[in-house]
Amino acid sequence: MSITAGVERSSNGLIWPTNLGDIKISVDERTILEKKIVSSKEKLSPRTASNEPMFYVPKSPLCPRRLDIGHDHAFVVLNRHGGMPMFDKTGAQQKSIKFVWDCISGSFWLKKRGRRDKQDDALRYVRYGLAVGRSESGFPRIVNDSCSASSKGKSRYFEKKASHSLPEWLKEFGPNFDVGDIIGLVDALRKIHAARYEPAKFCSMFVKGSYSSFGTTHTLFHGDISPNNIICEARKDEKTGKTFPRLMLTDLSNIGDLSKLMWTPGWASPECIQFAKTHTKYQEMCTSDFLAKYGAVKDAWAMGLILGSLLRGGFHPQYEDHLPRFSFITSKLTIDDSGRVVDERGLADITQEEIDRKIDVLIAEASSDGVKALWNCVKKYLTIDPEGRPTMAEYSISMS
Ligand SMILES: Nc1ncnc2c1ncn2[C@@H]1O[C@H](COP(=O)(O)OP(=O)(O)O)[C@@H](O)[C@H]1O
Ligand SMILES: [Mg+2]
Repeated sequence: MSITAGVERSSNGLIWPTNLGDIKISVDERTILEKKIVSSKEKLSPRTASNEPMFYVPKSPLCPRRLDIGHDHAFVVLNRHGGMPMFDKTGAQQKSIKFVWDCISGSFWLKKRGRRDKQDDALRYVRYGLAVGRSESGFPRIVNDSCSASSKGKSRYFEKKASHSLPEWLKEFGPNFDVGDIIGLVDALRKIHAARYEPAKFCSMFVKGSYSSFGTTHTLFHGDISPNNIICEARKDEKTGKTFPRLMLTDLSNIGDLSKLMWTPGWASPECIQFAKTHTKYQEMCTSDFLAKYGAVKDAWAMGLILGSLLRGGFHPQYEDHLPRFSFITSKLTIDDSGRVVDERGLADITQEEIDRKIDVLIAEASSDGVKALWNCVKKYLTIDPEGRPTMAEYSISMS
């Protein structure tokens, strides 16, 4: 999925890929689209504080692509009539993602949809909620789909496309991280955990347990902290002239979703494994209680493993799947010849003693105060007892 388009500006200021074929648009169609965009922009009301998109232009025989026009963007939705589908590493097409071209910034965006209905509130919190530390830099840019209001129950939004996923970045450039960017990522999750959240009505109707009753709030959580849900954009450090990856949290479409306990193999916290062992039926896994109680500390566990792996130079080098770089984790997993996790029930047997022994050595070896502080966070997040494990809002690093 490496699409690095050269761009050029047309006479009316809109930006297109030099090779229009990259977005499967013909020169004739571009002319039609430009007319539509220019006339739509003229209709925009004066800028409002919220920066919400103003309206969308539906498809028509003359202009068969949906446009979404706002003050800062003119999105051309690509996929229906061409465009590039996105594939995961097994070659399966990721149906939830579509490409979008923004004629104002001249960049690719992705059109995403939530799998659960009415997650918009949680997503809105991430966009407009109070910034915590460097959280602003830890998320990709997100714009609501102005069509979303009219499509009942669907959570849809646009997200700026980053150049790499974290595993892709590591493969291409190696582990050249700056502590500040790592803290930006921690702060992004801290911002999510800083919210007390009440599940939306529609969501609650589908989930069991006491949290489905109204008026009960829980700590907001991401739900699937894992290597592929972290994306990178090159950032040039002005002082040193070096390039580092800005780390951002993506896959926000399940944020705060109480209806399904899920994780990426290798990244589950021990209590999740324990829960899955004793609740084998699908319906039992759809419990709001467990996630309302432990959703955020489940994130913290996985983030602890991510941070530790980053500080140690990337994910486990021995396996194809991007697994935590800690033998106290990988030794508990059954991994087949192709490097896939086939059984992770052993994670329930991990002991605090083996974790602490390893992390204490790494704390002692830390190369700077910043790195030491991060390792101390890792140690807290890798607390086996979920009752004693802090969320990022309860324990986090603060440096400026
Ligand atoms: N904004 C983005 N920029 C670059 N790559 C992205 C972006 N969003 C997602 N991806 C890539 O696409 C993959 C799938 O997207 P994601 O939102 O995680 O959906 P899914 O629910 O299918 O996991 C991610 O793992 C990531 O590698
Ligand atoms: Mg994902």
